[in-house]
Order: sequence, then structure tokens, then C-alpha cells
Amino acid sequence: MNHNPMKPYLGKLVEVRDLATEIKLFRVEMSNGGSEAFRTFQPGQFAFISSFGQGEAPFGIANIAERGPGLDFAVARLGSVTSGLHELGEGDTVGVRGPLGNGFPMDKFKGKNLVVLGGGIGGAPLRPVIQHVLDHRSDYGALTIIWAARRPDLLVFTEEYDEWRAAPDTSLHLTVDTPDEKWDHNVGLITQLLEKVAPATENAVTITCGPPVMIFHTTRLLEKMGFLPAWNYVTLEARMHCGLGKCGRCNLGEKYVCVDGPVFNMVEVGSLLETFL
Ligand SMILES: Cc1cc2nc3c(=O)[nH]c(=O)nc-3n(C[C@H](O)[C@H](O)[C@H](O)COP(=O)(O)OP(=O)(O)OC[C@H]3O[C@@H](n4cnc5c(N)ncnc54)[C@H](O)[C@@H]3O)c2cc1C
Ligand code: FES
Repeated sequence: MNHNPMKPYLGKLVEVRDLATEIKLFRVEMSNGGSEAFRTFQPGQFAFISSFGQGEAPFGIANIAERGPGLDFAVARLGSVTSGLHELGEGDTVGVRGPLGNGFPMDKFKGKNLVVLGGGIGGAPLRPVIQHVLDHRSDYGALTIIWAARRPDLLVFTEEYDEWRAAPDTSLHLTVDTPDEKWDHNVGLITQLLEKVAPATENAVTITCGPPVMIFHTTRLLEKMGFLPAWNYVTLEARMHCGLGKCGRCNLGEKYVCVDGPVFNMVEVGSLLETFL
């Protein structure tokens, strides 16, 4: 019998740890059929996680299947579901629906130089892109990671920065709006750092994720710098209910973020981004 896509699989939390202030990493190992459903998934896909008694919410899958068993989710505490998840610990059970959405066309990106721009928790769905490129390094050109947060304690995946910096033809550039006394990287908005780093536009694909206002200004600047809209990718967040293209909650023009996205290129959504602000 086909699995009802509205019915969550069960998953066990095998790792729960602080990633940044009010942001936790949850590693989930699937049971009751979920292991087969999540045997493969693409960078950029997402899943609904339920905290029993609180409801469910969508989160980007923050790892790649090839790096071992389990699904990683980086969850920022915001409201009822995310607060419920933050109260859970290792050994607890959650519900998981997915994998959902389209993901990044990593095959199409082969041979391209990648510029990855992550703002705050928006770094979560970009981590699998970085992992995939590092694990298939010769398939891709230069990898430029431009990573931002409001404050240093809000930067995600800090323990992985050395691995990223050490990879061939890979650079990492960090910025925060408000530094602390130990901060010795850039201070200012991600757009200011992007102009300073000025990655080459030739043969480049850009991938941006972060708060709507960051996506809006960053994509405008990328276009002004000469990056081609057809190669400027974004991953978007929208309010969602079903995640299956049925309820109409997540529409962006004629598209549904849950099934047509969350990954889009600027040719598809450029003129609609303002409605997201
Ligand atoms: C495809 C996708 C991927 C996502 N990936 C991640 C991720 O990796 N990590 C992560 O922490 N979050 C992610 N989110 C956002 C996450 O789904 C919301 O933070 C979550 O739904 C909040 O649920 P809650 O019950 O805790 O908050 P609620 O109680 O529902 O809301 C608390 C407050 O936040 C506002 N709010 C809730 N959801 C959104 C939203 N989507 N956009 C703007 N405001 C909102 C509400 O209006 C309210 O003011 C993603 C969302 C989508 C659609
Ligand atoms: S969340 Fe229901 S159509 Fe997208």
C-alpha cells in the first residue's frame, strides 16, 4: 500500500546539540519505513518535523545522504513547534514527512564556479551544497562561501569552517552586523562583503539563502555585478501547511514554493521577490 504523504514517519533523535544561540542541530534516524523514503535526497530538499502535541513545521535537510545515516536539521527557536523541538533530547521521537521540494540541480552546476551566500539560519539548506561540492571537488570550479549573521554567536556550523577553508580552491568569507571583542573578520551586511570579495562572474552560479530582505538585496546586487539571472539561485521560505501542492498556502505568483521550489532561479521568481518582503 502507498504511504499517505500526510502521515509522518517516526524518527529518533540520535544527536541534539547547540549550534548557535537559540539554534540547535537535530540528527534524526528514521524508522517505520522512513529509512527507505529518505534513502536518497537532494541538497536543498526539506522535510516537515513534528513535535508531538505542538504540530509540525518545515525545515531544510542540512546534510547529504552520502555522509552517513541520519538527517540533520538546524532549528532556530521561534514559536510553538520550534520551541517544542528545543525541549527534546537524544532518544526522543519526532515525526518526519518528506523528502519534499525540488532541491538544487547539482548536476547542472558541474564545471561551474559556485558562489554560496548564507545569512543566519539560511545557512542550513546550503550546508548540503557545500558538503556535496567538497565530496565531489573535481566536478566543480572555485567555491566561494560568503557567510553572514547578525552577531558572531548566531553563525551556524562554525566547527566546520576549518574543513571548508582547507578544501582545494575554496574560500570562506565571514561577516556580522554587530561584532564582539574577539571578532576579527568583516563587519557589515553581506552585500558589503560581496562587493568587497567581488567573485568573478564568468561561468558562475550563485546560490543565496537567508531572510527575505537579505535575499532581495543580495540578488539585486548580484545582477548589478553581472551575474546572470538564469544562474542566480535562491531557496525560499513560505508559510506552509501541506507541503504537497494541495492547500495553496505557499503560493508565489503561479508557483507553489513547496513543490515548484523551494529552490528557484531568478528568471522564475525575480519579479515576485518583492512580495516576500
Ligand atoms: C522550505 C522551508 C525550509 C525551512 N528551513 C528552516 C530551517 O532549516 N531552520 C529553521 O529554523 N527554520 C526553517 N524554516 C522556517 C520554519 O519552518 C519556521 O521557523 C517554523 O515554521 C516556525 O514554526 P513555529 O511553530 O516555531 O513558529 P510559529 O508559532 O508558527 O510562529 C512564530 C512566529 O514566526 C512567524 N513565522 C512562522 N513561520 C514563518 C515563516 N516561514 N516565515 C516568516 N515568519 C514565520 C509567525 O508569524 C510568528 O510570528 C523553513 C521554512 C520553509 C518553508
Ligand atoms: S504548502 Fe500546501 S500548497 Fe504548498
